[in-house]
Amino acid sequence: MTTDTTTKDTAAGAPAPGDTVLDARGVTMRFGGLTAVRDVDLTVRSGEIVGLIGPNGAGKTTFFNCLTGLYIPTEGEVRYKDKVLPPKSFKVTAAGIARTFQNIRLFANMTVLENVLVGRHTRTKEGFWSAVLRGPGFHKAEAASRERATELLEFVGLADKADHLARNLPYGEQRKLEIARALASEPGLLLLDEPTAGMNPQETRAAEELIFAIRDQGTAVLVIEHDMRFIFNLCDRVAVLVQGQKLIEGDPATVQGDERVIAAYIGEPMENDPGAAEAAEVEAAEAAAEAEAATDAAPGKENDR
Ligand SMILES: Nc1ncnc2c1ncn2[C@@H]1O[C@H](COP(=O)(O)OP(=O)(O)OP(=O)(O)O)[C@@H](O)[C@H]1O
Ligand SMILES: [Mg+2]
Repeated sequence: MTTDTTTKDTAAGAPAPGDTVLDARGVTMRFGGLTAVRDVDLTVRSGEIVGLIGPNGAGKTTFFNCLTGLYIPTEGEVRYKDKVLPPKSFKVTAAGIARTFQNIRLFANMTVLENVLVGRHTRTKEGFWSAVLRGPGFHKAEAASRERATELLEFVGLADKADHLARNLPYGEQRKLEIARALASEPGLLLLDEPTAGMNPQETRAAEELIFAIRDQGTAVLVIEHDMRFIFNLCDRVAVLVQGQKLIEGDPATVQGDERVIAAYIGEPMENDPGAAEAAEVEAAEAAAEAEAATDAAPGKENDR
């Protein structure tokens, strides 16, 4: 743990249930003229599974990147257990936030076990000289890391594949391996970016059970997913991003029944939708362009579109 992020909790020990672990306030991320995330507040408390949903391009992954030090938000502040997060990925991991990626990022030519061992490096105290000299401290630490990594592989159901190369795992198992690697840093908060993408229904159900088990072991979870059944079944709370802004946040039943959420997904922005004006403009421009193209292509057939 780095000095600037030390708290009285260890990263592994969850605080009392209900304490805020993540507190993101007014997070805005601009890329040139594009505002991908606009003034988003979000909290996650210990013991919670929180969902983050929204149409493609809504800013969900960008928001994750702002939480994990990959991006420095243009505006806003992110706190983990009351400490402002340092703007560096490895420091964020050391502080207690781990993540998986929408596009799986494993070491393809390493074994399954080695991938999990890599995830442990923020928790091993053995330094450079210890590794070079390979003294008793190093061997002890290495043995402990292997034991924990093996435990994690059992936990996600990959123990029998420990020696396989990561690249040879089927897609669904690669996603599980990413989770095991993230858990190896003993996080207090786990961020999952589309953990069931590409999974079959059976694998998705298993992933659901795995995430409940992670929560039960004291790690809060923030999860992005497009599979609504999965999200509404899993989450205590769901926040909806539309065009970078938080449209609504609430329990699954409230969010599921909200007309603006339904409209956002079927592409018909309603009144008070933060993105409604912009989306309506884009839609009008697209309709005009389409009409023009149709007229150009078939001047005598205006109605044939
Ligand atoms: N590094 C970047 N530079 C410029 N624009 C970016 C960058 N990253 C994301 N964007 C833009 O920000 C917007 C939000 O993208 P983001 O990937 O966060 O959406 P998302 O909600 O995760 O979508 P999806 O569900 O498809 O994964 C998009 O318009 C995207 O093109
Ligand atoms: Mg994304």
